Amino acid sequence: MTKRIIIVLVFVLFTCFGVGAQQAYSPDENIKLIFSLDSNGVPIYQILYGDKVVLKSSRLGFKIKNDEHHLSHGFKIIDSKFTSLDETWKPIWGEESEIQNNYNEFMVHLEQEKTQRMMIIRFRVFNDGVGFRYEFSDQANLGHFVVEKELTQFATTGDHIAFWIPGDYDTQEYDYIESRLSEIRGLMSNSITTNLSQTSFSPTGVQTSLLLKTDNGLYINLHEAALIDYSAMHLELDDKNYIFNTWLTPDSQGDGPYMVVPSTTPWRTVIVTDDARKILASRMTYNLNDPSKIEDTSWIKPMKYVGVWWEMITGKSSWAYTDNFKAVKLGVTDYTSAEPNGKHGATTDNVKKYIDFASKHGFEGVLVEGWNIGWEDWFGNSKDYVFDFMTPYPDFDLVEIQKYAKDMGVEMIMHHETSSSVRNYERHLDEAYQFMKDYGYHAVKSGYVGDILPRGENHYSQWMVNHYQYALEKAADYKIMVNAHEAVRPTGIGRTYPNLIGNESARGMEYQAFGGSKANHVTILPFTRLIGGPMDFTPGIFEMDISKLNPENNSHVNSTIANQLALYITMYSPLQMAADLPENYNRFPDAFQFIKDVGQDWEKSVYLEAEPGSYITIARKEKVTGNWFVGNVTGKGERISEISLDFLDRKKKYVATIYSDGDDANYKTNPQSYSIRKLDISYKSKIKLKSVEGGGYAISIVEKK
Ligand code: NOJ
Ligand code: CA
Repeated sequence: MTKRIIIVLVFVLFTCFGVGAQQAYSPDENIKLIFSLDSNGVPIYQILYGDKVVLKSSRLGFKIKNDEHHLSHGFKIIDSKFTSLDETWKPIWGEESEIQNNYNEFMVHLEQEKTQRMMIIRFRVFNDGVGFRYEFSDQANLGHFVVEKELTQFATTGDHIAFWIPGDYDTQEYDYIESRLSEIRGLMSNSITTNLSQTSFSPTGVQTSLLLKTDNGLYINLHEAALIDYSAMHLELDDKNYIFNTWLTPDSQGDGPYMVVPSTTPWRTVIVTDDARKILASRMTYNLNDPSKIEDTSWIKPMKYVGVWWEMITGKSSWAYTDNFKAVKLGVTDYTSAEPNGKHGATTDNVKKYIDFASKHGFEGVLVEGWNIGWEDWFGNSKDYVFDFMTPYPDFDLVEIQKYAKDMGVEMIMHHETSSSVRNYERHLDEAYQFMKDYGYHAVKSGYVGDILPRGENHYSQWMVNHYQYALEKAADYKIMVNAHEAVRPTGIGRTYPNLIGNESARGMEYQAFGGSKANHVTILPFTRLIGGPMDFTPGIFEMDISKLNPENNSHVNSTIANQLALYITMYSPLQMAADLPENYNRFPDAFQFIKDVGQDWEKSVYLEAEPGSYITIARKEKVTGNWFVGNVTGKGERISEISLDFLDRKKKYVATIYSDGDDANYKTNPQSYSIRKLDISYKSKIKLKSVEGGGYAISIVEKK
């Protein structure tokens, strides 16, 4: 009987996968990767989770531009190799102090029979998913080529639920849409919600990191790791067959990435689990990146910061010094004679107020935007006014601020809005970084708003990916930490270059002042955007009625205060902003205490509850103090969260301070209703709390002395 089953199985494998089907298992043997060549020599892979199919037979390969011999078929296997690794490494910052990197690797060496061109496909099978990439060795018949199309497929098994944003080459700043795969086409046109965005490249084109949920209980995340010298991967759904086809961001000429052998592509990643919490706990994306290339990392430090920022975002003040564009058109030095608009945010006095506030409440950093000339004409219509990143406005006294911040024990954070004039930025980069060093700035927030100038590149093409990398590596030479906004979404590169302490690359808090975001947005981001690395989300807004800051702005922040506190835990980042204005924190000093206390560098994280779109509850232990912090965000309807504190040390007693939604809290009508109470607790304690939609809770837990 068993023999018969084996014969049938072998037959099935043979007919499905052609000659030479080879398999690799995860270390716990739960995930299985099957590779084969079909009868036309087309490389095919499939992924199983236990007995559930994750991806059906999916093809691999490339179309090459201006070449009749595409790297798509006619291959034979000339070698294959199984290896494995089990190591532990220590991230410079992160959600835990040690990360296990444990996989079985299957490497297959293919040769195209007609051309003798060679292509290696390397698969790594982890307990939490599969990563694979293409490699091109130094070889006689393949030197350099332009990718016309990467043929990698992800053939899903049905009409899954997806958490997606439209395939856009220039922005990721969308609210996520939760729908069946079959609904994407119909929903796409309604989803173009931001004025920054363009139409999707296809009515079924979406971006990664994409989260899928299947009816048979699997959570699948599709993304990429180590996006270096290549174009970002989008996905186009074949919605008759539920197959995702790779769609690389083209360059300004419509081309895919330029490859010069020897070279490798980024890893294509498929994280899979039957427990949503394990998507959040997955470190596969980091594990597929190289170890740190920065030897001395002592200057890379997690930090909390405040900044002259939200007042501009809400329109209360301005980045620009003057509204009189004509007055400054004459020449850069003429700002002294230009009429100030009376709304400029980055004045010496105002910056000092933020420095005082940071110093008083223990924030390490102060960000100042709008300090440098050029904001009146930031797209460089008059050539002279494209940013030089070094000339302050006349009312911003750089030297005075440097001295004041130093005396108050606060670090200044630089701001470089490039206005997407990327060549201009590259021209100034050395001087600008040196300037930062000279004036005591060790971190920069950079930004890429608008179309890429001057050659009409897309934000996520290979050329731009290389630019972000160039700016990051050069910053490392100057020992500068980078927090890049509007850059390509991260793919775990923070492991290799840990000076990348933040990225935006998704819809951040700013949209709550631009018309609002969905109340459950923050229950999706950790499953999607955060898979590749931390986000500078800029939480901590206490005044939800934006018209109180700027009567002309009627936006409403769709969140309760308790939800805002929880974000410091649920949205992991080594860089965390307290984004609201000092005067709004001064109105709620008891709630603000949580933001002052909360850590941002962790020894351990425990994922207590999670369901994408609905809720996330995480507990984290701070590295130096050993304090624990818990955060819950709730996205759809009211919910009772019940957690056990059994992660606490059995020998210790603790005091918990619980910040939760008030009984009458409502993210629309009563967002500032919260309650705070203290409790004696131990590892035996259980906590049951009600969170409203757009609400949540935050708990700080310190040892009882
Ligand atoms: C968009 C960024 O996300 C925001 O944080 C910044 O203030 C503006 N660009 C101006 O650079
Ligand atoms: Ca932005």
